[in-house]
Amino acid sequence: MLVLQNLTKKFGDLTAVNNISFRVQKGEIFGLLGENGAGKTTTLRMLATILKPSSGTAKICGFDIKNEPDKVRGHIGILFGGEIGLYDRLTAAENIRYFAELNDMNKSEIDERLDYLAKTFQMEDFLNKKASKLSKGMKQKVAFARSIVHNPDIMLFDEPSSGLDVSALREVHRFILDCKKEGKVIVFSSHTMSEVEKLCDRIGIIHKGILAAEGTVGELKEIHKKDSIEEVFVKLVGGKNEI
Ligand SMILES: Nc1ncnc2c1ncn2[C@@H]1O[C@H](COP(=O)(O)OP(=O)(O)O)[C@@H](O)[C@H]1O
Ligand SMILES: [Mg+2]
Repeated sequence: MLVLQNLTKKFGDLTAVNNISFRVQKGEIFGLLGENGAGKTTTLRMLATILKPSSGTAKICGFDIKNEPDKVRGHIGILFGGEIGLYDRLTAAENIRYFAELNDMNKSEIDERLDYLAKTFQMEDFLNKKASKLSKGMKQKVAFARSIVHNPDIMLFDEPSSGLDVSALREVHRFILDCKKEGKVIVFSSHTMSEVEKLCDRIGIIHKGILAAEGTVGELKEIHKKDSIEEVFVKLVGGKNEI
């Protein structure tokens, strides 16, 4: 479903993502674990067709991110951490609608999907409120709904939990697990080992642009003869890195 083939990105002399290959199946959560500057966001931006690879490529539902970015876009949902990026002057519903229109959905498809999402995320009460009037938690729900309005097969989450309080964090984790239940392919990045260990079926440890290790939590511990992902990480990335 998602196949990375020697994916590489250079910024001048810096190789931010260096020859990365892995594949993720339907219903699988793949965690990209790495410290700041490791290359997580650059990898995800290439998969999201926001950045062009310098070499190598990836296939998403059989479409090539380099040669068929328009086709790829219809199959991916993106939830990037930090700013949620809603339009303040639009209502919750209008924000979702706008994104759906960008994805070439027609009015009746959007109406039906909006109904479903409003129920799923319990947004009925504030659907017609301006985004500027919504609480943080409400905005988060709108961002979830917006990211899956076009029912993508693949979800890309870039540090979705950065800066969240405990309850918002739980919502994000629940959303990721719901996406898994729906059989989506999920890639998410994090620098928090406990989070990755808890949620992921498989983990890729990325360090200075290189995929230093890849496997299930159990496999990584066994191969590296360590009792926790944290110890595996320290072995591969170096002891001085506090994360
Ligand atoms: N647009 C850019 N131009 C130049 N260098 C960049 C750019 N984006 C990222 N980098 C560099 O690429 C490396 C990887 O960055 P990034 O993918 O953001 O890492 P992470 O998300 O793991 O923290 C870093 O050294 C960063 O400074
Ligand atoms: Mg990043």
